[in-house]
Amino acid sequence: MAATQSSGQTVEQTQSASIDNKASAPKREAPSEDAYRLKSIQDLMSLKGKVTVITGGARGIGLALARGAAELGSNVAVLDVLDKPLEAFYDFEKELGVQARYYRTSVTDPDGLSRTIETVVKDFGRIDNCVTAAGIVHDKPFLETTWEEGARILEVNVMGTMLSAQLAAKQMRAQNTGGSIVMIASVSAGTALQTQRLNIYAASKGAVKSLCVQLAVELAPLAIRVNTVSPGFIATEMTKGLAATRPELLAVFNSPPLGRIGDRADLKGVVGYLLSDAAAYTTGTDILVTGGVHAGLL
Ligand SMILES: NC(=O)c1ccc[n+]([C@@H]2O[C@H](COP(=O)([O-])OP(=O)(O)OC[C@H]3O[C@@H](n4cnc5c(N)ncnc54)[C@H](O)[C@@H]3O)[C@@H](O)[C@H]2O)c1
Repeated sequence: MAATQSSGQTVEQTQSASIDNKASAPKREAPSEDAYRLKSIQDLMSLKGKVTVITGGARGIGLALARGAAELGSNVAVLDVLDKPLEAFYDFEKELGVQARYYRTSVTDPDGLSRTIETVVKDFGRIDNCVTAAGIVHDKPFLETTWEEGARILEVNVMGTMLSAQLAAKQMRAQNTGGSIVMIASVSAGTALQTQRLNIYAASKGAVKSLCVQLAVELAPLAIRVNTVSPGFIATEMTKGLAATRPELLAVFNSPPLGRIGDRADLKGVVGYLLSDAAAYTTGTDILVTGGVHAGLL
């Protein structure tokens, strides 16, 4: 007899859903003697003809990652809650010869985001990759943090990531093409700094990393790879905002072992790699890009 889960879905239904995943899995390539010679690094890294969705891409890390994907040849659909992206977005089509569209939407609005993804598919025909960079930060003593502040961080950083990845993966399943999802986590998920009070923000990024590990296994039968990238301090509006209220953080941001704050360019290669076929056998992993923060102690 089928047991009922809290969702109301039965165990039998759950099992048949995972069998369906396998039934519709894209064909896998067997290992070959020659692939290492025939597939050049340049070919493997190319995203030519792909369609990449980037959340939080109107500025900051998301904008840089959208540019990186476009430089590798991908068309890009940039999603963000801001009215419009920074001017630099409009260079993509002119300079890189790809299609680039901007969609104003929130990752915390299930109906709105669902409609946006439908529009992306109408505009581009498919989705091959998804980068979840939309996020908000919280640097406040734990004992003063309110329920509402904590819930908002989790809503954007965790639920927004879940919803974006889910909608992209549903489209990849419908196409039967597989795909790659890269979620932006943070070094704070595994390292606490005495100079910052990231409490619930760090917990939200820990959740993103756990989600990645689970999805990597659950979506593997659909040939959808899922990985996280965990940046350290990167110069963006987010770190500028933190330093504006607490200027002492500027010195901290500039003191990783490599002796400087990270630049958004430091993330382009690693995310481009994870999106590409060069990472065809990489899933469920986290790549730290921190200038050594995680390896040493501040
Ligand atoms: N900058 C850093 O040092 C750093 C370090 C580790 C991790 N991160 C993570 O990298 C990601 C990007 O951060 P950033 O530094 O570029 O910050 P940012 O504030 O410059 O950019 C974040 C973008 O997300 C968008 N956004 C916020 N809420 C949204 C929502 N509900 N729906 C859609 N878009 C939304 C914002 O409008 C903004 O354009 C975040 O997830 C952040 O937590 C940043």
